[in-house]
Amino acid sequence: MNTMTNRRSRISNHRSQTSDLRSQITNFRSQITNFKALCLALLCGAMILLLNSDARAQAKITKESFGKTADGQNVDLYTLRNSRGAEVRITNYGGTVTSLKMPDRNGTFADIVLGFDNLDDYLKATAYFGAIIGRYGNRIGKGRFTLHGVEYKLATNNGENHLHGGIKGFDKVVWNAKPLKLANGAALVLTYLSKDGEEGYPGNLSVKVVYTLTNTNDLKIDYSATTDKDTIVNLTHHSYFNLAGQGNGDILNHRLWINAARFTPTDAGSIPTGELRNVHGTPFDFTRLTAIGARINQDYEQLKLGKGYDHNFVLNGRMGVLRRVARASDSTSGRVMEVWTTEPGIQFYSGNFLDGTLTGKDGKVYQQRSGFCLETQHYPDSPNKPAFPATLLRKGARYHTTTIYRFSAGR
Ligand code: BGC
Repeated sequence: MNTMTNRRSRISNHRSQTSDLRSQITNFRSQITNFKALCLALLCGAMILLLNSDARAQAKITKESFGKTADGQNVDLYTLRNSRGAEVRITNYGGTVTSLKMPDRNGTFADIVLGFDNLDDYLKATAYFGAIIGRYGNRIGKGRFTLHGVEYKLATNNGENHLHGGIKGFDKVVWNAKPLKLANGAALVLTYLSKDGEEGYPGNLSVKVVYTLTNTNDLKIDYSATTDKDTIVNLTHHSYFNLAGQGNGDILNHRLWINAARFTPTDAGSIPTGELRNVHGTPFDFTRLTAIGARINQDYEQLKLGKGYDHNFVLNGRMGVLRRVARASDSTSGRVMEVWTTEPGIQFYSGNFLDGTLTGKDGKVYQQRSGFCLETQHYPDSPNKPAFPATLLRKGARYHTTTIYRFSAGR
């Protein structure tokens, strides 16, 4: 009897030990699972920290003196460098981009905008290399426009017409500058107060332009402005690009796409006639990637008048919506530039008036067509063309446009 009882109790002990062991194993398993989850969370956290600190640590801004204007104002030069080593240099004289370094398909950097090494050359220059253009980018016929029944006479500096804001446009003034470090790159905030009557324009115009170099090789430009009296505004940027590197030959083999079904033909003074002409069947059709030089010498009146391309293209898509409107590429380096904008138009200028008389950075001589501009904008002479999108800025309203030059490199 005793032996039976002992055996039973041993069996029951054994069972309870087995169940203890099972529960210990289960506990141990769940601890392992928890530990794994903890490790994974720690690893993810470390990676996020690393990525963020990497981007912040590597996007850098430095400032140096660039000299003085004739009237003694100090001018600075800012260098913005992103986490991939791309770099833009901007001076607060004219908000000018003096150099822009982007990689080719092998990761080799080159400066892809035309410009000068020193401030004195910018003070003398008339080509608007890399500058902010305002108050009105492009031309206003006879330098006149009427607003609320009042005729305003602007400075004329291009024959009988007004070009790029007049004799002393936004490209020739000293802007206030404030560098800004961002999680995705670096920025330079430029501000300028254009006084009522400056170059003939009405209203005190308070202007802000923010250049951002992102860690994904975008050069983004945000333009904004407010006024204390109704006025007109049309701001743009005037870099001359050569994707093979500045001073490295002409841009005639660059291939270009512009998302525009129409362009605005001009008279002999480059003032739009008012016609919106279909590009189909003309040398102005860039709706398929075409070399800039493929048709530039064709016997087509508009090319003769502009001495090449110097025309506003009517961009497809909705004005006010940031959309891809142009793409240029250079097959030797593989560099590609896309242009995105909220604007309704783009001036494609093929550097026709460069003639070898300007010597730029590194002693490079800029021959005809050694750079091209893609200036996002409202159409030229809009204040005198009621059918064009309006450039009126009302007191109390805010002007705001965005343009992105996006760089990459392909095969
Ligand atoms: C104009 C050209 C002008 C050039 C430099 C361009 O935006 O369309 O006609 O020659 O700027 O001044």
